[in-house]
Amino acid sequence: MRGVMLVGGFGTRLRPLTITTPKPMLPIVNIPLLELELLHLKQYGVDEVILSSGYLPDVFDEYFGDGSRLGMKLIHVTEDEPLGTCGAVKNVERFLGDDTVIVCNGDILTDLDIAALFSYHMEKKATVTITLTPVEDPTAYGLVPLHPDGRIKEFLEKPSWDQVVTNLINAGTYVIDPKVFQQVPPNQNYSFERELFPSLLEQGVPMYGFPSDCYWLDLGTPAKYLKAHHDIMERKIKIPLKGKEIFEMVFAGDDVVIDETARINPPCALGDRVRIGPRASVGSLCCLGDDVVVEAGASIEGSVILDGANIGEDCVIEGSIVGKNTKLGKRVHVAEASVLGDNIVAEEDNEFRHGVRIWPSTRIEAGKIRFYRTD
Ligand code: GTP
Repeated sequence: MRGVMLVGGFGTRLRPLTITTPKPMLPIVNIPLLELELLHLKQYGVDEVILSSGYLPDVFDEYFGDGSRLGMKLIHVTEDEPLGTCGAVKNVERFLGDDTVIVCNGDILTDLDIAALFSYHMEKKATVTITLTPVEDPTAYGLVPLHPDGRIKEFLEKPSWDQVVTNLINAGTYVIDPKVFQQVPPNQNYSFERELFPSLLEQGVPMYGFPSDCYWLDLGTPAKYLKAHHDIMERKIKIPLKGKEIFEMVFAGDDVVIDETARINPPCALGDRVRIGPRASVGSLCCLGDDVVVEAGASIEGSVILDGANIGEDCVIEGSIVGKNTKLGKRVHVAEASVLGDNIVAEEDNEFRHGVRIWPSTRIEAGKIRFYRTD
């Protein structure tokens, strides 16, 4: 079965992490999100996938190649200009064939039952089936109310509370009869959500919603990136954790060295060659990438530290993200969903709070950034 994975977005809300890495290639518990997504598709027999890229396309090609390592066939197609979600699929129409295809946004972590989705699509004799997920605040999204038989009634973009008639939103995974792409203009920015779907509905094409209470998270923001890690480590979604389980719910890769006076609080995931120094404390809910070094007395909680980062003596990292190869001097404090990009050097006694974001390759002198309490 064929699929299309949309991976061409700029991932602006996840900057600075996405300045150096496209969003679908960001690691989730030390595995690129896209690899998890592809393996999920493969599990349901979708083993030929067209990757529609645009932003930093070489990163996908270099990592996955033709897909044979995953036992899949991957076709890479890169846009010169962003064509939007539907324009991107139109752009790969020549690879789709005549059979029903699955189209996925490449920034979704989910355990959706794709077999059930396909059966539903066939049973309803639908032309398009849109996966729907319930959310707490429906006013922030496009809502998709349904008739009792599951047929889509309308598309409601960001309604006010008095217009809210459902909490089901478009979850970014579609099963589509490729014939519909004949009516999409080529080489033009075109959206599923705002253009093709409302137009098909107006034409009376059979479109159904597939409500699902599966795990679903779009990795749009740093807070959601952290949440994905926390949810996996709390087993809200069952993604296999890499490495060996060295204590209950503490997974470690190869050649990890933990000082005997260090404390590791589960759940935690440690990459290959991680080194944790004396009196350091790591966890709970931490993920450390390959070659991360945690120096003596440092404390890390609820955070993601990417490959090759060095956390200096007595640093405190709380609920935050530290980019690849970033080096922190002594007593640096990173808290409150702050994000440090890749290759930063922050010398001693700096403090990052309130979700500040520091761009890659910045050098910050000792004691330069401080936050004072306002209460
Ligand atoms: P933000 O800039 O933070 O909104 O992130 P984004 O660029 O990823 O956009 P969004 O979350 O709306 O995109 C949903 C999915 O569609 C992501 O997997 C994107 O990579 C992908 N996508 C968005 N726009 C395009 C596009 O123009 N072309 C292609 N090929 N993919 C796209």
